[in-house]
Parts: sequence; structure tokens; C-alpha cells
Amino acid sequence: MSTLVVLGIQWGDEGKGKLVDFLSQKAHMIVRFQGGNNAGHTIVINGHKYILHLIPSGILNEEKRCIIGNGVVVDPAILLLEIERLKERGIKVDGNLFISKTAHLIMPYHIALEREMEKSKNIGTTGRGIGPAYTDKISRNGIRVIDLYFPDLLLSKISSNLQVINFLLEHFYKAEPLDAREIYELYLSYGEKLSKYVADTEALINNAVEAKQNILFEGAQGTLLDIDHGTYPYVTSSNTIAGGVCTGSGISPLKINKIVGVTKAYTTRVGEGPFPTEIKDSIGDYIREKGGEYGATTGRPRRCGWLDLVALKYAIRVNGLSGLAITKLDVLDGLNTIKMCIGYKYGDKVFDSFPKELEVLNGCEPIYKDLPGWDISTGGIRDFEKLPKNAKAYIKEIENLLQVKVQIISTGQGREDTILLDEVF
Ligand code: GDP
Ligand code: IMO
Ligand code: MG
Repeated sequence: MSTLVVLGIQWGDEGKGKLVDFLSQKAHMIVRFQGGNNAGHTIVINGHKYILHLIPSGILNEEKRCIIGNGVVVDPAILLLEIERLKERGIKVDGNLFISKTAHLIMPYHIALEREMEKSKNIGTTGRGIGPAYTDKISRNGIRVIDLYFPDLLLSKISSNLQVINFLLEHFYKAEPLDAREIYELYLSYGEKLSKYVADTEALINNAVEAKQNILFEGAQGTLLDIDHGTYPYVTSSNTIAGGVCTGSGISPLKINKIVGVTKAYTTRVGEGPFPTEIKDSIGDYIREKGGEYGATTGRPRRCGWLDLVALKYAIRVNGLSGLAITKLDVLDGLNTIKMCIGYKYGDKVFDSFPKELEVLNGCEPIYKDLPGWDISTGGIRDFEKLPKNAKAYIKEIENLLQVKVQIISTGQGREDTILLDEVF
């Protein structure tokens, strides 16, 4: 019985949803601890595709308790829609989903503000209001799930926030102001609809720890998008690394047993920001098309590049990984040569650690090691020994250079297209 964290160690979209769904078969409880509906986690079961933005990817397994923890920012309109869509597809949500009382809410003014800010900042956000919602949380202007059940307090918080925000919208951004009463009434109605899911999730999680249940923490985004440790300012507004699990759920660091980092067999990034191993020629397009590299949340084409071991070593360090999961190996099928970045060159300097300076990261050239590709399909292979020789060598080389055990390999979108090399729970 243990607690397991599964998180992305690149720039997001590593295939966390697929793996969390797979690993949930052995979990009692699955917890989201940060981010919001900027996440898009894709799960394919028997050819049926589900994209989850807020609800933990464990929900598709029967009778798993799924928790939206205090560290998540919740857009109630999106959450209600997600609940409805799952129910329409016959998934049991009531009784299995719990939303933290103390999670902060994304308000319509967060989305309006982000739309205006993005025009000059150009971070390439998902436009879901994530940054402004976390800004309000940190500056103590946030509205929490629990506030939905105190109408007078709710109205006064919305009104006082809008005094400042409407001034900005109207006079600085030259945009339409928003109406406090309208938002208040809308959010009261969301509160009514969500009330049956609202819970003291910190207590639920710690009780499950006491009861020695298997708890799976599902990361959103990836390490290089972490607000403190990512490629700031081209990051999201939460702590995506393992440290975020504790603050975002209320569990003690001493109670976390295992941390598995998920990486693609190559690299992708959506939105702006440095990306040393980005491939700008036809091989990049080949990977994008073969890997279906279009955002699960915004539909934007993802930038594609080679695996970056310098970045991964850094991610292994800040997360303290106990194991690795490598996804989308099948996407590399058919390539003659596969490159992996083992160092960076910047001016006349060569180094193998991930630089903190954005200028260096933007200006460095990757040093590649070439490995031979394979032309046999790996799609859907479930047994390591059945992989082509060069695919096995590729995995072994990653393991060797990173010095972390590869515990899972994914060879397709489907739940079953998975090679489990080691029990992770
Ligand atoms: P997440 O945000 O980390 O959950 O990842 P996304 O769902 O945004 O993106 C990963 C995409 O790759 C989804 O379309 C998955 O269905 C797909 N995927 C995951 N693992 C594999 C794999 O091993 N092979 C292939 N071909 N697709 C995969
Ligand atoms: P999952 O959980 C990939 C990126 C955005 C943008 C930056 C900031 O599916 O892996 P935000 O809206 O969070 O303020 O945007 O972060 N981003 C993601 N990229 N996968 C995600 O989530 C992402 N969530 C945010 O593209 O560059
Ligand atoms: Mg995604």
C-alpha cells in the first residue's frame, strides 16, 4: 500500500492521463493537486476517447475516489460540463468525485483579464484564466469553493474585486466591464449544482493514508512549466513538481513513497518559450502528424523536438524521481536515426546542466548523440522482449544516461498498449 505521484517531466502532454488511468486500476484514490482546466488529459479505452481537464483520470475506472485538491483552480462551468459529459457516457461520478472546499475558483474576470494581458505578454497561455486566478489566490483576493455557500460574503468579494478589475478593463485595456450581480447569481447556481461534491479533501486524503490505501497523485502540466523551476516566464502559474503535491493536497512530504516522471520518447511544447531541441524541418512535421501532436485543450499544433536528456536530468533532480515512464515510443517507428541531446553548447562553452538563464537556453545549441532507428512497428507491443532491438537499445540508453529505472513504456494511445516493467505501487 503506498502513495505514488505521477507527473510530467517535460513541457506537459507527456501522456500522464493515459498512465494515470492505467495505474488507477490498482489505486483507491486519485488526486489532482495543481493546475486547472489548462490541462487536457487524454485516455483511450477500447477505442473510446475521453479528454479530462479537471476531473482526475482515475474516474474511468470503477469505484475510485477522485479528488480535486485545494491546489487546483476550478472553473465551475467547465467542471459541471465535464461531469455532465461523463454521465452521458455512462461514467459514475456521483459518490466518486470530491472537490476541495478550499480550492480557488476561476471567475469570468480572470478569463477576461488574461485575454487582455496575453495581447502584450504573449506567453501563449491556454486562455483559461489560470494565471489571474492564482494571482488572486496569492494576493488574498481569491474566491474559494466554500465561499459559494455564504451568499453575502460571495457578493461582497465579487463586488470589491470587480471595482479594481473593471477599472483596469475599461480604462487600461479599453474592454467591456463585467457585472458583479450577474456573476454572483451565476456562481450561486454553480454552488448549488456542485454542493454534493464539495468535501474536506485534506481529511479524506489523510484518512486514506492512515487506512494504508493506494493513493495516486496526478500531475498536470510538466516540470519545465513549473512557476519556480520552469522556463519562467514561459510557464504556468502553479508548482507542477513533486513539491506541489504536499501544498496542493495537504499530505506530508514524509508520506510520499514513490514519484514516477513521465516523458515522451521525444519532446513537445505548446505555446511560447525556449526549446533547445526543437526540430524545425520535415522530421518535426513527421513527428507532429504521427504523434497527433495537437493540444488536447486548445487544439494548437505542438512544437516537436528530440529527447533532451539535459532537461530530463534537471527534472529528475527537482522531483527526486524514483522511476520513469516513457510514452509514445511508437511515434518514432520508421525513423532512420534518432537523436538525443546529451549536452548544450553556448558560445565556446559546453555544459550538461540545464541553465537557469533564459538567454542561455534560447541561445544554446544541443549536442546530439545519434542512435539507429527501427522500421518494425512497436505500436501496441506489451512485452519488452518483443520490441525491435534498436528500440530496446534506445530505452536502455536513456536509462543508462539518466540513471533512473524505466518502469513503464507506452506504445499506443490505448490503456492496454503498455509495457509494465516493474510494479509501481
Ligand atoms: P497529458 O496531458 O500528459 O495527459 O497528455 P495529452 O493527453 O495532452 O497528450 C498525449 C497524447 O498522446 C494523447 O493524445 C494520448 O492519447 C497520446 N498517447 C499517450 N501515450 C501514447 C503512446 O504511447 N503512443 C501514442 N501513439 N499516443 C500516445
Ligand atoms: P497538461 O496537463 C502543455 C502551457 C501553455 C502555455 C503555458 C501557460 O495537459 O500537460 P497557462 O494557461 O497554464 O497559464 O499557460 O503553459 N500549458 C500546457 N502545455 N500541457 C498542459 O497541460 C499545459 N497547461 C498549460 O501552452 O505555454
Ligand atoms: Mg495534455
